[in-house]
Amino acid sequence: MEKYKKRSWAEPYKIKVVEPLKMTTRAEREKALSEAGYNTFLLKSEDVYIDLLTDSGTNAMSDNQWAGMMLGDEAYAGSKNYYHLEENVQKYYGYKYLVPTHQGRGAENIISKILIKPGMFVPGNMYFTTTRLHQELAGGTFVDVIIDEAHDPANPHPFKGNVDLDKLDTLVKKVGADKIPYITIGVTVNMAGGQPVSMTNLKEVRSYCQKHGVRVVFDATRAVENAYFIKVREKGYEKKSVAEILHEMCSYSDACTMSGKKDCLVNIGGFLALNERDVFEEARNMVVIYEGLHTYGGLAGRDMEAMARGIEESVQWDHIRARIGQVEYVGEKLTDLGIPIVLPVGGHAVFLDAKAFLPHLKQIEFPAQTLAAELYLESGIRSMERGIVSAGRSKETGDHYYPKLELVRLTFPRRVYTQAHCDVTVEAVDEVFNRRQSIKGMKMIYEPKYLRFFQARFERL
Ligand code: F0G
Repeated sequence: MEKYKKRSWAEPYKIKVVEPLKMTTRAEREKALSEAGYNTFLLKSEDVYIDLLTDSGTNAMSDNQWAGMMLGDEAYAGSKNYYHLEENVQKYYGYKYLVPTHQGRGAENIISKILIKPGMFVPGNMYFTTTRLHQELAGGTFVDVIIDEAHDPANPHPFKGNVDLDKLDTLVKKVGADKIPYITIGVTVNMAGGQPVSMTNLKEVRSYCQKHGVRVVFDATRAVENAYFIKVREKGYEKKSVAEILHEMCSYSDACTMSGKKDCLVNIGGFLALNERDVFEEARNMVVIYEGLHTYGGLAGRDMEAMARGIEESVQWDHIRARIGQVEYVGEKLTDLGIPIVLPVGGHAVFLDAKAFLPHLKQIEFPAQTLAAELYLESGIRSMERGIVSAGRSKETGDHYYPKLELVRLTFPRRVYTQAHCDVTVEAVDEVFNRRQSIKGMKMIYEPKYLRFFQARFERL
């Protein structure tokens, strides 16, 4: 690390292929937005200038990954790319067994169906949309056990993703450990703002769970980003490599679900990785129902090769420091302008605090949804709501959940945008900030039953 301290980072790659961006007029954007029901998920990508909707599947692959695509072994069974992927999951994540899936939620479906019985409880460090829904569909009830600091956008705690062991203990005492098949630990926690979990906390949770016979399942979607934060923030890890830290983190869990579309630097792919032989046997059997044979799980051979190579690239220091460095760069610029964001800046995204940005709007007027729409209108930049719309409704009462965090996520695809794109983004947010008092809220006019944020439609008030 020493040798980098004197100079600022720059993108550790040069550009070989370019994809032109389209600019639109304000009138065109007004039309596109209204046709999309003021939901950025419903915009056509063609109508977007800088796309910060998500870091999921939007990564730029390296020349090495593209070369690997040509080596795809498209056999139905036993593809050599499966074995390469298995080797790298074992080497970098440390789990014994691999079940590939088409993406993260495929793995969530399988593990939920195998381990959760109706009436069980699944604690987690804040929810993720698809993860919680699969747990609920399997008959489980999700219980949030993240530390309180995570719900406060301004709290500077360095590991806001940590599990609160008292909350976990309260649940265990209340329902009994036999009703808790596992705890899900998101490393990092997307909905809290891309916040990491400390190694100390992972060890404590592990030892608590071992005592009570509760499994630990990671949502390892952004575990490499979590490892980076441990390296730069946690005492004793400064000199360890990101790969070593990742391996140690995973050693405190029994299994993980993975959306390869994030850390693993691919456009599609995921997996379930486990250490327990019998659970693996069941998962390998179940994957053939929902995804495909257990040596491809809904992926082409070339996709598995790209993911195997992406895993290797993802733990390189040059890569990860520039990836998170870019996000921090935007966060610092916005903070300098007095724009309220979640602090500390997370791994994959800068989260605008929509409650503080638009304090005159009630939460039921959808401040984050409104802000995402306004930012698009201003600049053609697409972001995502992470607030009351994403939170959905309670399955017991049917009421909206009112999450404390009402956020707009500016999510950075890996290796895609330049620092100049970052500057333009900051300028656009600042322009919306300067006219924030005149911004009115919205009402929801169409609400789908599941994961409503993807397809809900709105109207201006
Ligand atoms: N877990 C986390 C923490 C995620 O962020 C995601 C996806 C998933 C699981 C599900 O994985 O999409 O491959 O099925 N997050 C995307 C996002 C959609 O934009 O944050 P998937």
